[in-house]
Amino acid sequence: MSDFYVDLAELYDVVFEWDIESEADWLVERLGSECRTVLEPGCGPGRMFEPLVRRGLTVTGIDNSPAMVELALARETGATVVLADMTSFDLGTFDGAVCPINTLGHLSHGELAAHLETMGRAVKPGGRYLVQLALGASIGDASRWDAARDGLHVRATWTVESREAERGTEVHRSVFEVVDGPRAGEVHEHEHVMSYWTAETWGAAVAASPFTWAALYDGAAPGRPRVDATTTGGLLWHELVRM
Ligand SMILES: C[S@@+](CC[C@H](N)C(=O)[O-])C[C@H]1O[C@@H](n2cnc3c(N)ncnc32)[C@H](O)[C@@H]1O
Repeated sequence: MSDFYVDLAELYDVVFEWDIESEADWLVERLGSECRTVLEPGCGPGRMFEPLVRRGLTVTGIDNSPAMVELALARETGATVVLADMTSFDLGTFDGAVCPINTLGHLSHGELAAHLETMGRAVKPGGRYLVQLALGASIGDASRWDAARDGLHVRATWTVESREAERGTEVHRSVFEVVDGPRAGEVHEHEHVMSYWTAETWGAAVAASPFTWAALYDGAAPGRPRVDATTTGGLLWHELVRM
């Protein structure tokens, strides 16, 4: 488990809480009108829960960071939250599943295979698993943004720093700088060894799993249009369908 998601859970909760109303609408539409129960592996502090619950879904989240599970439970959204590893768990069967913002990039290629096998048992046949995962984002790509809540103002940067394409890994660096409020002056810098996926390696991983890769959407473009499977980028949404 990464210390980042334990030690910085509270700052993460501030930094990644942005408006996800249109994304929630889109996700619910993609999950389909039959979908009533949804699983979010790697749910973090549960920022997706309330928008999904409000749209009529029964939500379960799992995370292997105790600090994240505590924050997710504190939201009191009615979602079920379980401390579990997404590569191996058994919580019964769900109509669908979602996994936003490159969470699966934290899994090694072997762990991803175990995760998709486990998800194959967790999602009913025909159910959608919507995964947001980068394919071939450019080295040097950097996101910078400010976020504030309850007097805590944080400046965040997330940079794709380097890549070992042969090994299928890349190094990302995050910096969270508290610029205002009682914690002003704190700077937290972390290096993340992430998996690097291309259309070919990701396509092969999905082909070896209980899912089919039904469609790809550009999560960075207005309306999240469907795009060609060769499209690269950091915010791509993959629609996987349980066979
Ligand atoms: C990028 S955050 C995403 C959190 C949340 N889904 C969101 O959209 O804000 C990734 C989360 O995955 C969790 N995580 C990473 N590896 C995991 C694993 N093997 N099993 C369960 N959770 C994991 C981390 O603790 C972290 O909370």
